[in-house]
Amino acid sequence: MADRLDKFISENSKLTRSEAKKALSAGRVSVNSAICKKGETKVTEKDVVTLDGTVLKNIGFVYIMMNKPAGVISATEDGRDRTVLDLLRENKEISDACPKNGLFPIGRLDKDTEGLLVITNDGALSHELLSPAKHVEKEYLARCEGKLDPNAVQMFKDGLRVGEDYKALPAGLTVVSEEEGKCTLKIVLTEGRFHQVKRMCHEVGVEVTHLKRIRFGKLLLPDDLMLGEMRFTDSGEIR
Ligand code: URA
Repeated sequence: MADRLDKFISENSKLTRSEAKKALSAGRVSVNSAICKKGETKVTEKDVVTLDGTVLKNIGFVYIMMNKPAGVISATEDGRDRTVLDLLRENKEISDACPKNGLFPIGRLDKDTEGLLVITNDGALSHELLSPAKHVEKEYLARCEGKLDPNAVQMFKDGLRVGEDYKALPAGLTVVSEEEGKCTLKIVLTEGRFHQVKRMCHEVGVEVTHLKRIRFGKLLLPDDLMLGEMRFTDSGEIR
């Protein structure tokens, strides 16, 4: 498939689209050994594109699973807070193997939520996984404080009314442990509304003090992927 040269450079190097345009004007780019200054030039996988003499490989789609730590936000950039993309770029091994721009997280976790987050440049897969019609399961482990309603499991199963806002789809709730004023819950949702786990827990009498996502669809958070770590996966594993 043919792509614009400036787009190809920004997708397969560390340069942004505007930096790619500047590199083109400065004569730093060649196509099949001839310097090319025109960003609109079409290139295909048969063309050899170099930037400062280094051949740019077409990286294609990438899928990275991250164990998101608390304190970073699930966005590509932010004027104030560190984002999961900042974290990715600080990981030399991953960012060297994948200097690609255009990466984004599939869905969001709250700033204080930890756990499994997939980062990709595959818009179609992201769209599919986030589509409400697909009911992709997301599993969370929540440590909570308060007195859990004895009917909580059934209330989740029946579809819980969340404030005045909406009735949640039927959801799974397993009480992992419960002691005086504290409990640990495993929750499986098939939708992804704002603060949904926290709000649903509030409806059954408890407040979440620590939240971690441990599964997204079929993809499990690996036990050996520590907070802040990330590794490549493939779309097959996610599907
Ligand atoms: N539900 C929440 O309340 N927060 C998250 O980050 C994810 C699900």
